[in-house]
Amino acid sequence: MDKKKSNIYENQQPDKGRIVGKRPGAKPGSVKIKAKRSNSGAAGDRNLRNMHTKVKTARGRKLSSTLWLQRQLNDPYVKLAKAEGYASRAAYKLIEIDDRYKLLKKGLRVIDLGAAPGGWCQVAVKRTGSTVDDIRIVGIDYLDMEPVSGAAILKKDFLDEDAPQALIDALGGEHPDLVLSDMAVPTTGHRRTDHIRTMALVEVALDFALKVLKPGGHFLTKTFQGGTEKTLLDLMKHNFISIHHVKPPASRDGSVELYLLAKGFKGHIKNNG
Ligand SMILES: C[S@@+](CC[C@H](N)C(=O)[O-])C[C@H]1O[C@@H](n2cnc3c(N)ncnc32)[C@H](O)[C@@H]1O
Repeated sequence: MDKKKSNIYENQQPDKGRIVGKRPGAKPGSVKIKAKRSNSGAAGDRNLRNMHTKVKTARGRKLSSTLWLQRQLNDPYVKLAKAEGYASRAAYKLIEIDDRYKLLKKGLRVIDLGAAPGGWCQVAVKRTGSTVDDIRIVGIDYLDMEPVSGAAILKKDFLDEDAPQALIDALGGEHPDLVLSDMAVPTTGHRRTDHIRTMALVEVALDFALKVLKPGGHFLTKTFQGGTEKTLLDLMKHNFISIHHVKPPASRDGSVELYLLAKGFKGHIKNNG
């Protein structure tokens, strides 16, 4: 990639971990992936964008619910997901991240934490070529979801003590090349509480990834802008070759959601310091 064009700084010191930020010496910034039409037809289909649906405020419906409904009905990703058979608009976040960072390759094994309703599992199945006879994708969620052909789904809380082993067992005892976490707690509206609970999930997901990933593997997790504590980032820097903050176009501009991608697991867990 042409660094001048992309204005992305990459520190070339693999041992210390490489952070991709906006300028040298800056705190790790986020890479905003430009919206473009990918193979999947993601982002900005003209016809879909131009159809605007206005929702009337029904009696008994709160304004916030009306606005949410209106946004859903007019969201091009929601329409695309429906047209292309994805279980969620979230599928396009993984598609866009993967188009940029090339994480999913044929034959790789993937664990998907917080899988419901199944968009990421569908994308991972397609891009790894996982089949019912040779399952390479395992998802976990405590919510019910429709089955995804080519993936094994565990209906379980990832925080259960036996969840990590259950995931590896479902992967046929093999270790994953990629651990994905799109886990999110139901938001309370109280920013600090939501923040703490989300970061707790990131920590547990990272801990799991460090224990199970194959050397050279990658870890992708949902986080919050400005939310990743230094100790957590340091732990990632110690254990992966490069760290990237990514905001895919499918992640709504107004949301504080951000993805943290750690590439190239060094192979044995290193603690901070
Ligand atoms: C944003 S959704 C994931 C969307 C998914 N990536 C897709 O493409 O359809 C977040 C999911 O995380 C799940 N989740 C949150 N905490 C969890 C936990 N402790 N164990 C399992 N699933 C969890 C929620 O139930 C929710 O379904």
